[in-house]
Amino acid sequence: MTDYVALAARIAALTDGETDEVALMATLACELHHSDARFDWTGFYRVVGPELLKIGPYQGGHGCLVIPFARGVCGAAARTGDVQLVPDVDAFPGHIACASSTRSELVLPVFGAGNRLIGVLDIDSNQPDAFTVTDAEALKGILSDVFGTL
Ligand code: SME
Repeated sequence: MTDYVALAARIAALTDGETDEVALMATLACELHHSDARFDWTGFYRVVGPELLKIGPYQGGHGCLVIPFARGVCGAAARTGDVQLVPDVDAFPGHIACASSTRSELVLPVFGAGNRLIGVLDIDSNQPDAFTVTDAEALKGILSDVFGTL
């Protein structure tokens, strides 16, 4: 399990003063991905138009480029504004499998200032039921610290 206190401190130091969304996403994708062996794909999908996500910085194998809000776990997070904690991706209607090895997934909406939806953070694991509410809450806090004033 990740030491989220140390991870948040490291991310705060690395991103201090930075306001460029892509630079921030690239830094978080790297630090999050390498912080925990459960994380087999870690990346962002950005809101690029009405009801449309496009891939952003990520770590791991190839990710699909475009996701409408109507599809997938990422689309559900963007559409509802709610965290998607998926213990079994095969049981999630409309899950988009970028890799056949993915077993569980955690997707969080990313909000800027004024609760503006910027995109989503997607973390896939090859382990079943890999993610917990503790992961979701800690990552929500990190995302708010980094993107919440943009
Ligand atoms: N599984 C996601 C798609 C993105 S790939 O996992 C990187 C979904 O269902 O939205």
